[in-house]
Amino acid sequence: ERTQVAIVGAGPAGLLLSHLLHRRGIGSVVLEIRSREYVERRVRAGVLEQGTVDTLMEAGVGERMAREGLPHHGIELRYGGRGHRIAFERLVPGRRITVYGQQEVVKDLIAARLADGGRIDFEVSDVAVHDIDTDAPSVTYVDASGERVRLECDVIAGCDGFHGVTRPSIPEGVLTVYERDYPFAWLGVLARVRPSAEELIYARTERGFALHSMRSSEVSRFYLQVEPDEGLEAWPDERIWAELKTRLETVPGFTLETGPIMEKGITPMRSFVVEPMQYGRLYLAGDAAHIVPPTGAKGLNLAVADVRVLTEALVAWFRTGSAELLEGYSRACLKRVWRAQHFSWWMTTLLHTFDSDDAYGRRLQLSYLDYVTSSEAAATTLAENYVGLPFEKGP
Ligand code: FAD
Ligand code: DHB
Repeated sequence: ERTQVAIVGAGPAGLLLSHLLHRRGIGSVVLEIRSREYVERRVRAGVLEQGTVDTLMEAGVGERMAREGLPHHGIELRYGGRGHRIAFERLVPGRRITVYGQQEVVKDLIAARLADGGRIDFEVSDVAVHDIDTDAPSVTYVDASGERVRLECDVIAGCDGFHGVTRPSIPEGVLTVYERDYPFAWLGVLARVRPSAEELIYARTERGFALHSMRSSEVSRFYLQVEPDEGLEAWPDERIWAELKTRLETVPGFTLETGPIMEKGITPMRSFVVEPMQYGRLYLAGDAAHIVPPTGAKGLNLAVADVRVLTEALVAWFRTGSAELLEGYSRACLKRVWRAQHFSWWMTTLLHTFDSDDAYGRRLQLSYLDYVTSSEAAATTLAENYVGLPFEKGP
């Protein structure tokens, strides 16, 4: 079998790449180890930058997002017994974010690919990439019916997330890894209860960080900073609600509404980048190439930005044979990647509790929070990064 672009992974990166390439007349096959039901149910991020929303709208896959997504024009930073609003409409006029679940984006992209006759092979196994340093690369795998398949292609897109197979297929010595681990994890919770506030609340307390987010008028999303080695069994629903109340009910007049918990999971936090994001005919995009701690809500948005760059580079190459943009792919992506790395690290260190004995560090944190919530310049820095910096001009 043969296709132009073999795409490993049906997350936001792989699915959007397949869709954008199709609209430019380039064929692809998407390979995914999980089932369609699994990827459509996997609860993850929820904050879309304006540029992500624009990309999905322009690509004709934003109709449901435009109807059901929640536009937000600010967030609250809550600490020291007070809430402080970061007002996007004043600090970065005309720019906003949209709250719309990642799995809804994934559902919309899968539906669009299938409606256009696109091919996504779910529930594959034994995925391996071959001959990536030649002009005849291929991907082998076992399909859902147990059949062994060799897919020949012109290029391979590694969109298989942090734990995928494509990045480890690059020979030793090619990639430089930059990483940082954090001494905590996030417990994510989806609950059937109406949001207790209209905007997202990022709360810093002495007991750790908490985030109040939402999905709709009936569904709320929460995150709690927890110990890195804690399992879900340590977090029965009653403990989750008690801890959320302790960390969020810290300002006068605020009461957290509670309700049935629909889903919960624990995610480790790390920062990670490989350079370059390419080797031979293999191009990495999204979490396969870089991870950010979720405090800045950048992971999904970065994946979309990579895919935009890769699409333009592949279109130029297939149309004209010019490899200039493909060769510059990694360089073109990494500027935005590193800005998001810094912002995500900064938001994380600003809002989480680190070593409980480090009184000096806590004072610094509070000083910076006071600065961000009182200085127009500092607040603008947060706001313009949070809503997302504009994309670089295309070729
Ligand atoms: P992914 O969404 O990870 O997609 C990769 C796909 O490849 C998956 O479907 C996977 O099943 C598949 N795959 C893996 N290995 C193979 C293989 N060998 N062969 C074929 N397919 C394979 N970001 C936020 O901003 N806020 C959050 O709250 C947040 N929560 C997160 C929670 C978790 C548990 C994780 C893992 C990430 C979270 N993120 C969050 C980050 C955000 O969801 C990611 O940045 C985003 O999913 C990146 O998209 P992607 O397509 O690059 O990777
Ligand atoms: C959500 C996730 C984030 O990582 C974040 O910073 C804000 C909101 C969410 O899932 O709603």
